[in-house]
Amino acid sequence: MVSLSVDDLSVQYQSQGKKVHAVDHVTFAFGDNESLGIVGESGCGKSTLGLAIMKTLQENASVSGKILFDGKSILEIPDSEFTKDVRWKQMSMIFQGAMNSLDPVFTIKKQFEEILRKHSFQGDHMDAIKSAISSVGLAHSVLDKYPHEISGGMKQRIIIAMALILRPKMVIADEPTTALDVLVQAQIMILLKKLKKDGLSIILISHDLGIISEIAEKVGIMYAGQIVEFGKMEEIYKNPKHPYTIALLDSIPKMKETKRIIPLKGNPPSLISPPSGCRFYDRCPQAMEKCKKDPPKIKTESGFVMCWLHE
Ligand SMILES: Nc1ncnc2c1ncn2[C@@H]1O[C@H](COP(=O)(O)OP(=O)(O)O)[C@@H](O)[C@H]1O
Ligand SMILES: [Mg+2]
Repeated sequence: MVSLSVDDLSVQYQSQGKKVHAVDHVTFAFGDNESLGIVGESGCGKSTLGLAIMKTLQENASVSGKILFDGKSILEIPDSEFTKDVRWKQMSMIFQGAMNSLDPVFTIKKQFEEILRKHSFQGDHMDAIKSAISSVGLAHSVLDKYPHEISGGMKQRIIIAMALILRPKMVIADEPTTALDVLVQAQIMILLKKLKKDGLSIILISHDLGIISEIAEKVGIMYAGQIVEFGKMEEIYKNPKHPYTIALLDSIPKMKETKRIIPLKGNPPSLISPPSGCRFYDRCPQAMEKCKKDPPKIKTESGFVMCWLHE
């Protein structure tokens, strides 16, 4: 059982004398046996949001707001305590691109041992490693291999096993299928679904709403540092409200439909000086004069939408 609530969370990076507003006043919550998807274009702040929840942001980041994980206000927990009790043990993260940063000079086994050592794991190391390897559907023989000897799909399974080795309740999976070909992508999704069925809460971050819809009951649509629509996956899939969500859905190819894919033109605004008013204004086919003012947060059946059209 896991609950996470994020309240008015903002993250700013100090970069070359400027502030990048990577996550801007984000609020959402999800709970027991639910999985959450966070979706949006590259650069909209998805990874920053995940890293903030894991308290693993880089030094040049400053955070404000509140994150409650199982009722604990984690931004207030000192880092030493968070490392000892929470990070990797209760929640862990499959970092974006991590499969490409396995150390080429060490065997897979050595790299698992390093994680256990870093987290001062007290139990039997080999037992824990073997059980993690089995849970992602790999044979134990993979442990004696070097990263270059295994396929991309196997590397990603290893990364997932590493995130699971201390048996966390929740995992943040940041673009876990992005660098993989479609068949391997599908296998990784099957694995994530199985882990979810076995009781793991997953926050799946992806630029692909199609992938998210396979696993998440709840979804947050992120645009330029904000969550512009949030709610039950099913509801948003059937009846998207924010014009950006509609554009995202229109850009997914659907096998059985002959409808043309409509690509979204233009680029998101800069996060250094984001425009006041709705951030989607420039690209929105339904923009109105009042959209130059900050959009209201309108309650929907299962969440909210930030858009003047639904006032
Ligand atoms: N360490 C950092 N320092 C400065 N800017 C950063 C840093 N990390 C990310 N950013 C910027 O923050 C914004 C959000 O990035 P990110 O969270 O990686 O988005 P996404 O995961 O959605 O692609 C981007 O504009 C990115 O360039
Ligand atoms: Mg990212």
